[in-house]
Amino acid sequence: MAKTLIVVGSRRDGNSNYLATKIKEKLALKRVVSNIIVPGDQKIYVCTGCMDCDKKGVCDFKDDMIKNIKLIEDADYIIIITPTRWNLLSGDLKIFIDRLNPLYVKGTLKNKKLIAIAIGSSCSDEYSSSKALKSLTNFAESASLNVVLEEYFNNCLKYNDIEKQEEKLNKLLDKIDKLITS
Ligand SMILES: Cc1cc2nc3c(=O)[nH]c(=O)nc-3n(C[C@H](O)[C@H](O)[C@H](O)COP(=O)(O)O)c2cc1C
Repeated sequence: MAKTLIVVGSRRDGNSNYLATKIKEKLALKRVVSNIIVPGDQKIYVCTGCMDCDKKGVCDFKDDMIKNIKLIEDADYIIIITPTRWNLLSGDLKIFIDRLNPLYVKGTLKNKKLIAIAIGSSCSDEYSSSKALKSLTNFAESASLNVVLEEYFNNCLKYNDIEKQEEKLNKLLDKIDKLITS
């Protein structure tokens, strides 16, 4: 059974967390166990760029990235959900992603499957979530992750606005379910 890790880039109990919970519930119906992590709620030191991990394959910092890296190593599917921030991924996610460099060095990320999702408040291409999504797929390209699905949601400003897009939400849940469980 495929193992799934869901990484949520927003700390608030808003749209990204709502979607993560829905994905977890959907997969649980087929007995797929998924873990949700919210890097912003964890203790994660910011990468200093020392590049020691290039030589050793591990980071000197002792923080929550130790358990996160184990979860990533175990996962067949990684689902990253970012709130759109200035057309980009969230800062919490960037800090998390930078600390994955030891895995790049070891080649662990190569060909793992990534589902990339961005959620923003804009209703148009201006300040768009498609661009935030691109920052996730740019990371995937650099890390040799295999992007198997990408999606973005507009018009999500308040905590639960994504609930109003029921049809799109359900279609996405079905696609994720099909990918991971079949
Ligand atoms: C600092 C900041 C920058 C933001 N920049 C954008 C943006 O460029 N485009 C956009 O559509 N929404 C932007 N938003 C709105 C959020 O993406 C939106 O509220 C989204 O629902 C947040 O997801 P969450 O509910 O999971 O926190 C921004 C929000 C913040 C706090």
